[in-house]
Amino acid sequence: MKKTILTGLRPTGNLHLGHYFGASQNWVNLQDDYEFYLEIADVQALTDNFDNPDKVRKNVKEITLDLLSIGLDPNKVTYFIQSQIPEIAELTVFYSNLVTVARLHRNPTVKTEVAQKKELFGTEGESITYGFLGYPVSQAADITAFDGEVIPVGEDQLPLIEQCREIVRKFNNIYGETLREPEGLLSANKRIKGLDGNDKMGKSLGNAIYLVDDEETITKKIMGAVTDPNKIKKDDPANPDVCMVYYYHKLVNNEENNNTICSECKQGARGCVACKRELITRMNEFLSEFRDRRKYYEEHPEEVDRILKEGTEKARIKSKEQLHKVKKAMKIDY
Ligand code: TRP
Repeated sequence: MKKTILTGLRPTGNLHLGHYFGASQNWVNLQDDYEFYLEIADVQALTDNFDNPDKVRKNVKEITLDLLSIGLDPNKVTYFIQSQIPEIAELTVFYSNLVTVARLHRNPTVKTEVAQKKELFGTEGESITYGFLGYPVSQAADITAFDGEVIPVGEDQLPLIEQCREIVRKFNNIYGETLREPEGLLSANKRIKGLDGNDKMGKSLGNAIYLVDDEETITKKIMGAVTDPNKIKKDDPANPDVCMVYYYHKLVNNEENNNTICSECKQGARGCVACKRELITRMNEFLSEFRDRRKYYEEHPEEVDRILKEGTEKARIKSKEQLHKVKKAMKIDY
């Protein structure tokens, strides 16, 4: 029997190359070999966007289109919307007794996000809600509602999987062996740098290339990418290892071309503008199959609705089974 994958995404914005190379490319590779549940985590998105329901609603569609565009085949992958699975909300309530508030504050992913919010809004008390602090508990419910065994995610998500494992162990200790401890699975690329050379590509950092970016946008962004600051003139020799243009060539261009680019750059035989032009071509080639699939689904919105509706129905069969097991173990199965 195939093992079960459960993974998800918050619908707060479109997918960029950081998401793609950091996690979702791996999902495409795994879809044949697993029973695959893919959650559009709108409830989780609302924990810190509760005052912006339009944004979340719009991005459920956008994220679904992005995921379809990269080739996550709806015949292999069960797409579903978190808010339409009430069992997840019930499990969240039960698990919330098994986690201390102090432990949630110590969760490294939560800690990073709290620090970001402090920077944006000032004091923590004003911006950190009960629901936001508790989202790792809700994520443990996401995973266990589908008996998830393998959880392929970006590296920033590992503390949330560890938190889920702790909840599972505690649950099983108290109520008897019921739930499975999931395993995280990282993709080879892990973290993708931004156009500005920042260690992380991120929406809030303004340094991302999105899968939906059109040719004009790609041109503008790549023309502005950071190159070796010591290279002043076109034929100065430079260091490709500090150049973001070379960094992205390595992601989307082939090895032979990249070897040429690297040696020409070191010899001063390659100008940055020409090198950027070539990257623009390669990036557009790389994105073209995504654009084609996206266009198809944009023209067939009723098909996208059906994928989400049928996926959610299928997902509920599993989540109902899991909730039943949990309530029985907790002796609340009236
Ligand atoms: N927290 C993930 C993100 O930030 C989304 C997510 C929700 C998730 N539930 C999940 C990931 C369960 C893996 C497993 O994008």
